[in-house]
Amino acid sequence: MGDNYPATYNSNMSQIVLYQRQLSWPTDWNKVFGREAPFVVEIGFGGGHFLVDLAQKRSDYNFLGVEISIPSIQRGERKIKNLGLTNCKVLQTDAVFLLQTLCQQKSIQEVYINFPDPWRKAAHHNRRLINPNFLALLATRMVENGRLDIATDHADYQDVITETLENTPYFFNRQTKTFVNEDNERLQTKYELKAIEEGRTCNYYKWQRNDFMPDKPFLPPQEFEMPHVVVKTPLTLDEIQSAYQPLRADLNGVHVKLGEMFKSNDSNKLFVEAYVSERPLAQRVGILIRERDDGDFIILLHEVGFPRSTFGLHLAIAKIANWILGLNSEGLLKKSNLQMSVTELSPQEA
Ligand SMILES: C[S@@+](CC[C@H](N)C(=O)[O-])C[C@H]1O[C@@H](n2cnc3c(N)ncnc32)[C@H](O)[C@@H]1O
Repeated sequence: MGDNYPATYNSNMSQIVLYQRQLSWPTDWNKVFGREAPFVVEIGFGGGHFLVDLAQKRSDYNFLGVEISIPSIQRGERKIKNLGLTNCKVLQTDAVFLLQTLCQQKSIQEVYINFPDPWRKAAHHNRRLINPNFLALLATRMVENGRLDIATDHADYQDVITETLENTPYFFNRQTKTFVNEDNERLQTKYELKAIEEGRTCNYYKWQRNDFMPDKPFLPPQEFEMPHVVVKTPLTLDEIQSAYQPLRADLNGVHVKLGEMFKSNDSNKLFVEAYVSERPLAQRVGILIRERDDGDFIILLHEVGFPRSTFGLHLAIAKIANWILGLNSEGLLKKSNLQMSVTELSPQEA
């Protein structure tokens, strides 16, 4: 993304809740906080007690809490506001997206992960946050000697975390044992108190980043020009709509699903729902097919939901254009700024 992206974060130090769409890829966190200070992240802060306690005690650090849960974001916001903290903000997004897309290499001083979701069912174990790939990603974003603290009360997940940390080349232990079962230095979190009350043992891992860099840089997704294509076809919008069936495209690990198609009230546009998955990002967007005065059709993104113009969104538009061109032998591609060839999408992508 260029610096010209209209919604790029405009430093506003009083803002507590940050929105993904406002943030540059990657983000300059010093700019967001309005000052230069070491950057600390708590992943999955839940109730927010631990986050605000740290922020209150360490006013010379910038704290960001990341959560996928909206009620947690609201709870965090209330606590930060009530305490009048200016060094603490919250962001609703997925931790992997935050690290890979919004954090620069070697930018995070400390990371706290308290009681990450254990995903109890075996079929869901692949959703667990802590695994070798996640630690490698974290390693690229943390500063040398940066601290990584993890706590869990889940016996099975504990074995996985222990094994992952003991085998990681990127972190070393700050304690003599892989984990300890008591930590009186820190504020207890909501889950921690519940675990103790219910008689479960908690494990506390206190590790630290070394200077060994992973080979994989975990580059953030790239942003391109806003995609648009112009096609000529003798078909009308009604004929295009009646020929439509949901479509899919898969290219370079990017998956596109095109769902329902709707016609606008003024009848000169079709709107297609699109779901685009390109790790670590997933976007739900709308694509417009608009008839121009000259009879050509322009295919472009609807601005609803502030789409980020990635390879996947280019692929979604390429897929629709390719499909329209295939409907009639007189179809003609007149203009495209896409990252891939519209006419040469192979059958499995088409
Ligand atoms: C078991 S709760 C622990 C909450 C809190 N840390 C505590 O100890 O009380 C796990 C939290 O992580 C959040 N979470 C799960 N996956 C996440 C992800 N990928 N990114 C950010 N937060 C996540 C959940 O919404 C939930 O609030």
